Amino acid sequence: MPSEIAIGIHDLSIASTQYMLTHATLAAQNGANLGKYERGIGQRSMSMPALDEDIVTMAAAAAAPILQRHSADRIRTVVFATESAVDQAKAAGIHVHSLLGLPSATRVVELKQACYGGTAGLQFAVSLVHRDPAEQVLVIASDLSKYDLGSPGEATQGAAAVAMLVSAAPALVRVDEPSGLFTADVMDFWRPNYRTTALVDGRESISAYLQAVEGTWKDYTERGGRSLGEFSAFCYHQPFTKMAHKAHVHLLNYCGREVDTGAVDRAVGPTTAYNAVIGNSYTASMYLGLAALLDNADDLSNRTIGFLSYGSGAVAEFFAGTVTPGYRAHLRSAAHRAVISRRQEIDYARYRAIHEHAFPVDGGNYPVPRETTGPFRLAGLSGHKRIYELTS
Ligand code: HMG
Repeated sequence: MPSEIAIGIHDLSIASTQYMLTHATLAAQNGANLGKYERGIGQRSMSMPALDEDIVTMAAAAAAPILQRHSADRIRTVVFATESAVDQAKAAGIHVHSLLGLPSATRVVELKQACYGGTAGLQFAVSLVHRDPAEQVLVIASDLSKYDLGSPGEATQGAAAVAMLVSAAPALVRVDEPSGLFTADVMDFWRPNYRTTALVDGRESISAYLQAVEGTWKDYTERGGRSLGEFSAFCYHQPFTKMAHKAHVHLLNYCGREVDTGAVDRAVGPTTAYNAVIGNSYTASMYLGLAALLDNADDLSNRTIGFLSYGSGAVAEFFAGTVTPGYRAHLRSAAHRAVISRRQEIDYARYRAIHEHAFPVDGGNYPVPRETTGPFRLAGLSGHKRIYELTS
């Protein structure tokens, strides 16, 4: 039965890393044609973490502005979605809970299902708020995507976090019912516990994603969802921004619609501005797309956005969101642009050193050099424990 109260995203804030590598630098190193990166996959640069940054520091940096604007009194749950976990047992969100000084009367949990985890977190949060509309849920999606040097996936690396406050009467976007769901057991992309870099079958992953577009849309339609023409924009998971275009063309073909390239660009183009320069941020990627759309598009009040969340392995969900009138007064557009512009460009040698960096696993004391100018940092490792601190 559809929810009678409006529940959705009340506030949204993004964070990324200290450093950035351009695809021009990567292409100059590996001999690739820059056109393949910039036009073929739609990527211009990728965020790279400093040695003292990780999913926790990005997550805390994304969530801190939300807590400056809203009291934490109504937040009783923190959901942290990631596939770049820093521990196999303890939820990374507990470090964030501590860094942000959240109340002890909070439940904190980590969720994983590749890039789909952020959407699982959002939908679970909507259900919690439905149970008690006085509560708010802090949903954080934070990831670093890392592939082997020289592999086809290398050009799609990136890093970012998105924090969302989910509440009743949301100021930004209401999450609508129904959802279209799809799961299939495929090995298109995975990362065994003993590896720091992901394994991927590139062609299979694109085909699995497109199958999921069909599967979710079929289920969404069968459950009484809106028709294609009712959507003003489509926000797809973006492993690389060209994938959003491919996915939308596929959806139009599946629905028997004529494909007009200009219309496809208008439907997905505004969602790609941040992902094109940040790279794949896995769980955060689709919500970076939402941030870019809200920050940069003309007034979307009362307009409906289609969301297609895909996580390899594979789980996907299609749902609609309706933009709240007056939402523009609650955006963080200038701060989001600053997240991108503050990153320092690094050369290939520095990128390679970051890529190859690994902590010893002997449980010794390893202070980390002070590099980030962000608000939180990983101070070091001590006795197998990660130590985080505020930078000022
Ligand atoms: P590749 O195989 O080296 O690239 O890597 P390619 O040869 O397929 O070229 C890419 C595109 O550039 C092609 O366009 C070329 O034609 C074009 P398309 O035919 O696909 O439209 N191109 C050029 N365009 C302009 N000027 C040129 C030029 N040269 C070529 N000079 C691949 C591509 C995606 C396989 C690789 O980047 C990869 O392995 N990426 C990682 C996997 C991935 O991102 N998969 C996407 C779907 S799975 C997913 O989204 C989930 C994920 O986020 C993980 C999770 O869920 O946790 C990955």
